[in-house]
Amino acid sequence: MTQTHIYDVVIVGGGGAGLMAALHASRGARTAVVSKLYPARSHTGAAQGGIGAALGNVEEDHPEWHTFDTVKGSDYLGDQDAIEFMCQEAVQSVYDLEHMGLPFSRLPNGRIAQRPFGGHTNNVTGKPVRRSCYAADRTGHMILQTLFQQCIKNQTVFFDEFHVMDLLVVNGAVAGVTAIELATGEIHIFRSKAVIFATGGHGRIWEVTSNAYAYTGDGVAVTMRRGVPAEDMEFFQFHPTGIVKLGILITEAVRGEGGVLINNQGERFMERYAHSVKDLASRDVVSRAIYLETREGRDINGQKYVLLDARPETINRYAELDGRTRPDGTPYRVTAEEILSKIPDIADFCRTYLGVDPVKDPMPVQPTAHYAMGGIPTNKYGEVVIDDQNTVMPGLYAAGECACVSVHGANRLGTNSLVDLVVFGKHAGMRAAEYARGAALPELPADALDFTLAQIDRLKNGDGSENVADIGHEMRTMMFDDVGVFRTQEGLTQAMEKLQELRQRFQHVRVSDPSSVYNQELFSAWELGNMLDLALVTTASALARQESRGGHAREDFPKRDDASWLKHTLAWLEDGQVRLGYKPVVVTKYQPKERVY
Ligand code: FUM
Repeated sequence: MTQTHIYDVVIVGGGGAGLMAALHASRGARTAVVSKLYPARSHTGAAQGGIGAALGNVEEDHPEWHTFDTVKGSDYLGDQDAIEFMCQEAVQSVYDLEHMGLPFSRLPNGRIAQRPFGGHTNNVTGKPVRRSCYAADRTGHMILQTLFQQCIKNQTVFFDEFHVMDLLVVNGAVAGVTAIELATGEIHIFRSKAVIFATGGHGRIWEVTSNAYAYTGDGVAVTMRRGVPAEDMEFFQFHPTGIVKLGILITEAVRGEGGVLINNQGERFMERYAHSVKDLASRDVVSRAIYLETREGRDINGQKYVLLDARPETINRYAELDGRTRPDGTPYRVTAEEILSKIPDIADFCRTYLGVDPVKDPMPVQPTAHYAMGGIPTNKYGEVVIDDQNTVMPGLYAAGECACVSVHGANRLGTNSLVDLVVFGKHAGMRAAEYARGAALPELPADALDFTLAQIDRLKNGDGSENVADIGHEMRTMMFDDVGVFRTQEGLTQAMEKLQELRQRFQHVRVSDPSSVYNQELFSAWELGNMLDLALVTTASALARQESRGGHAREDFPKRDDASWLKHTLAWLEDGQVRLGYKPVVVTKYQPKERVY
């Protein structure tokens, strides 16, 4: 039996962006959140170290500096009008979160504490600036808890553990979504005037990732199947410090608090790659440096990892060499207790997964697939745009990691994911509610369920000669090796061939579990189909882009090429083939320059 629900606005995804959108949409429209996870379990929690906003609580800072750092961090691919909008709004957004009850860490004077993060600088001196507002190393978790409580207070309706399968479109406008309820296997239709996708990223297409199992790119895959392009998919961020092999994130805040990266010679190698800001260079720069150290044999035990040293004696030694001071001008010196109070969760992860106490031993780390700069194209109000003319698709919105506004361009600065999701989550929610107030509920198409049912049928009744685990494993290892931190024509071409082979093999998968109740095998198979689609458009976009920029490093085209490539990629998936188009980058105040850190 199929249940039908009617709302003004349906939000798909219950992470930070979804909750922020829900909070604002529910003030003016009947709103439901449909999410495959319980909201508090979303990946927003992995943004551990803070949310960037130029509050200037510790030292001089300005939203303009935040804007410039973000433009520079994006390797000039971010749209500068949207970046300026975000960095200006960031300040009030942090105060809004504070007023909602978010338990920020505090300075002795009671103001919100701020710490340095990669790529955040004083634009006059070029030195790191303390801009990241944090709640120990649980900032993302605290945002989730705070927003969830606010949504409950505002009586937002949640459909938890509902897997969205399809976007319903009538005459080019949104009419709702279909979903399967995990607990029962029942299919539900959510009719609505507006839909906001806030489904997060797709780090699970790579072997080593900070992303939880759920991050399979469902929102981007579902919208692509309905003709929406995916923007800038070649730009995926590898965070420099994941726990070796496991990929679990060790927050950049460890380096913000003074931790340093060390190779097998005991050398603080970032001095060679980013003379000015060293370990606090932007993430693309640091991840590449770790790879190069590995390639040149300076990794630890030949095992492709380096050490992140946050022992107080190391931090104090380098702080002295760097002349680092506390906000009151006294020399920066830390104790083990202070370090542990700033990174309690990281200390816990290290003890649990590595048997390492970070104030006694260095942590083994390697780059980990962390964040999608690309995704569903939107404007700064969260409206989805579907072509190079930025034509808006009526009723469709996206926010958070699954969206590409684009404020991160080719590389995101740490802490800007949380800024992105609160600022654009809010605007998407407000815009969607406003749109819904002026729109009639679209009629449902007669074939509303056909595509959903066909997908399930194919997975349940394939010939069964292939299995999900094997295809998934082959995709992840190949993506990590050939579409990872460094890329070449040869590797990307091989990856395209391999992905087409895996997509063929995927047609022969059959789910062996026939049950309807929590059929995890069925959902894993469906998610694998989404990941294969995303891996294909990522690889095709990367193969076409013959330059290096931000998170996309081509060994055969090592330079950034603004004359040919200062443009956004748009990728459509049509009958299993990728069609590429491009649209211009919005440049307002800052002409592209070489990035020097
Ligand atoms: O390193 C971190 O704490 C991650 C933050 C982010 O991705 O913004």
